[in-house]
Amino acid sequence: MTRFPLPLVGDGMLVPCIDGHERPYVALDTAASSGVLELVLRRVEEFLPSYSGVHRGSGYKSQLSTDAYESAREAALSFAGREGSDDIAIICRNTTEAINHLAYRLRLRPDDVVVTSVVEHHSNLLPWSRVAKRRYVECRSDGTFAAGDVAAELDRLPKPRLLTITGASNVTGWLPPIEEIIDASHRRGVPVAVDCAQLAPHRPLPPRADFVAWSGHKMYAPFGAGVLIGPREAFADGDPFLAGGGSVNLVELDDVTWTDPPDREEAGSPNVVGAVALHAAIDGLAEMGWPAIIAHDRHIGHLLRDGLAAIPGVHVLGPDLRTDTLPVVAFTVEGLSHGLVAARLSAEDGIGVRHGCFCAHPYMMRLLGLTDDEVFDFRHEVRQGDRTRMPGAVRASAGINTTEADVSRLIVAVARIAGGEPAPVAYVQDPRTGDFTPDRDFAPSYAGARLPGSSCSPV
Ligand SMILES: Cc1ncc(COP(=O)(O)O)c(C=O)c1O
Repeated sequence: MTRFPLPLVGDGMLVPCIDGHERPYVALDTAASSGVLELVLRRVEEFLPSYSGVHRGSGYKSQLSTDAYESAREAALSFAGREGSDDIAIICRNTTEAINHLAYRLRLRPDDVVVTSVVEHHSNLLPWSRVAKRRYVECRSDGTFAAGDVAAELDRLPKPRLLTITGASNVTGWLPPIEEIIDASHRRGVPVAVDCAQLAPHRPLPPRADFVAWSGHKMYAPFGAGVLIGPREAFADGDPFLAGGGSVNLVELDDVTWTDPPDREEAGSPNVVGAVALHAAIDGLAEMGWPAIIAHDRHIGHLLRDGLAAIPGVHVLGPDLRTDTLPVVAFTVEGLSHGLVAARLSAEDGIGVRHGCFCAHPYMMRLLGLTDDEVFDFRHEVRQGDRTRMPGAVRASAGINTTEADVSRLIVAVARIAGGEPAPVAYVQDPRTGDFTPDRDFAPSYAGARLPGSSCSPV
């Protein structure tokens, strides 16, 4: 039986802090990218000596690599609860690519409507804005909505071609009632795509969703593999998202015969190492078992949420504290910029969190209760290249390796900062990114490490 918390590769690494001491790093940015499972590292190392090109080689190593790749595909299908179905798993880079892939492959017409929600990550908003009209399920001020709100939006005309919705919010950790939503959508004959980027490491994927997408790097398996799953027939006709080697049966100079899915959808040399890593993570999570993972998540999530909410001047965004969420907590500190709080946590305490709007701008504007005029002003400033006043929050997110001691260190540090303890050094804000850095270098890689615009969005 797995004991939680389960250490990941690199846990406990000492990082330099501004007072000249080194401290064990506290990784609370798991919702962005998690650490790496020991099992993933081991399997990748075991596999690498037999690494070779997939699908196209007649050599023994190529056959081993092809086997490894195809068994990762099977594992992905079973992870998504699709054994025995005619669904296919397309191995791609990440959730963003998977959703872009789907948006292209559904061959929507510009007048078709896709229903989605204001809670979504940009990766489940922007791909749809290029191919169809959108209608949005609004959220309440606590960042949630009910299955009935989704149903109401689905009932409006014209009838939507698709509902695409997140399985869990990357900002508040909120879990929409996804099974109820899928039922409501299916009763109306509308297929459902679920963005499972956040759900995948924390909860079983919804087996009745028509399409699901997720990323390996958020479930302890870096190396750049993600998955899109959907019914085979959705990919049977039409051009694939990417055209090129491996996706065809026959190419003439002015004609092409595409091969069958899933190969048709995976032009180019597949990422076999990423697939091996993903497979190992799937096996690792299966070995731990969902009940144990969920129990650990709930325990750590409550400590995080209750601990932060109890600090005077700290406001936790999202649903009330009793709601079951992922261990993902976004908060603001009265009178202090989110960027400064995050910079101080890192430089003074060795704690890694995220700050900004977490690639979910519409959701954050609602959670922060900003007026249209305020949003207008911020947009104007950002367009002028000035992110000094950009609104946002700090986000702490946990995983299977998060310990009670990690949470305590965060709570103590945030309480100190929120309580008004002066910073030991001055912090300088870069107006282009909105980020703060200490006014002196204290770690070899610190100075200038961040380029303007280097995150998904600097806000
Ligand atoms: C809910 C959600 N959807 C989609 C994405 C995009 O994932 P990726 O960056 O792996 O493509 C993220 C990433 O943070 C996310 O949290």
